Amino acid sequence: MADLAERGHGSAQRDPRVIVALDVPTAAEALAFARRVTPALCRLKVGLELFTGAGPGVVGELAARGFDVFLDLKFHDIPTTVARACAAAAGLGVWMLNVHALGGVQMMQAARDALEKGSARRPLLIGVTVLTSHGAHTLSEIGVETDPATQVLRLAGLAHQAGLDGIVCSALEAGIMRVRFGTGFVVVTPGIRPAGTAADDQQRTMTPLAAVGQGADYLVIGRPITQAPDPVAALEEINIQLRAPF
Ligand code: C5P
Repeated sequence: MADLAERGHGSAQRDPRVIVALDVPTAAEALAFARRVTPALCRLKVGLELFTGAGPGVVGELAARGFDVFLDLKFHDIPTTVARACAAAAGLGVWMLNVHALGGVQMMQAARDALEKGSARRPLLIGVTVLTSHGAHTLSEIGVETDPATQVLRLAGLAHQAGLDGIVCSALEAGIMRVRFGTGFVVVTPGIRPAGTAADDQQRTMTPLAAVGQGADYLVIGRPITQAPDPVAALEEINIQLRAPF
């Protein structure tokens, strides 16, 4: 299987929109993927599984290879704890990190203030609204009786008020985020499924091109790339689709 360097970087972008979710258990597997792609083709997301299994060192190793790393640990705790965790994450050299907007304005402001005090390059701070695996039924189960879009808007408003750089939401809500908060507010959308791929446990999904058409800045894509028979080809195909005018 040829890597993208051998394929001549046919789908390279100056500002790649795809953030590949490295949902793998070991640093070796994450680095094996990173060796086959380049920072011009994708950004990389380190989430709970990889961070817990491999430790923070893997973040530094990916960053040292020139990749923008999104540390997706979705902090949600008392303001002081979250602020300190954010400062620690900034020290790892991450490009983006996130907190749950459900933690409230005070928690999000504490996170932002901690990053602004840091001497390292300030990472983008993003608020998670409603998980893309949650639909109306699962929201109701946890006592939220509003529909997902209304809840996303509410939480995104809190993130905006707290001075965060943007939010994570499903692509179904990306358009309304653009209208409400303008282009300066970063919209990150997981739950992306190229046509013909399995939805897995995601409920609110959209294709890559449609998501960008709705106003998504960055697309978090995991299994459709990492579980594809040829992951690099799957990434390249998505990048090519995203070059189409919309
Ligand atoms: O494999 P798949 O494309 O569904 O992966 C989506 C990734 O995005 C996972 O790593 C998941 O943790 C993350 N994510 C999500 N929904 C959010 C925030 C992050 O699915 N709201």
